[in-house]
Amino acid sequence: MRKTKSVRTVTALMLSMSVAAIMADIGRASAEINADKGFRWRDGAEVYSKVCSYCHEGQVGPRLFGRELPPEYIRAIVRNGNRAMPPFRSSEIDDESLAKLAEYIQRN
Ligand code: HEC
Repeated sequence: MRKTKSVRTVTALMLSMSVAAIMADIGRASAEINADKGFRWRDGAEVYSKVCSYCHEGQVGPRLFGRELPPEYIRAIVRNGNRAMPPFRSSEIDDESLAKLAEYIQRN
């Protein structure tokens, strides 16, 4: 009983720290966009490594690679979020980059 409770607390703590870290990253990315209107994500791999891998290669979210998740499903989750998964707006990940990202994840 006791153990389960502390594991849950640690997980919740890790998740809130991750969200804070990601929000700080996105803040920086937005600042970059404002400072330089020409900012663009290079490709799906860059978005994945800078935004998604933090949680999805760590202990926070489920693994996404090797599961052949449909790109439409990935795009919907990224735009809308789902429970502990935060949503991302098109000012953070534009539609074209999101399409590339979804294909990239499906391929891997
Ligand atoms: C702050 C941590 C965090 C970040 C950043 C994050 N995710 Fe997630 N993601 C989660 C969590 C946690 C879940 C599981 C949600 C649940 O079921 O409660 C999840 C679930 C998902 C799912 C559903 C997986 C399934 O098994 O059905 C997809 C798809 C997904 N995320 C894609 C992405 C993509 C793409 C990115 C990058 C743009 C991303 N996530 C960034 C935490 C994150």
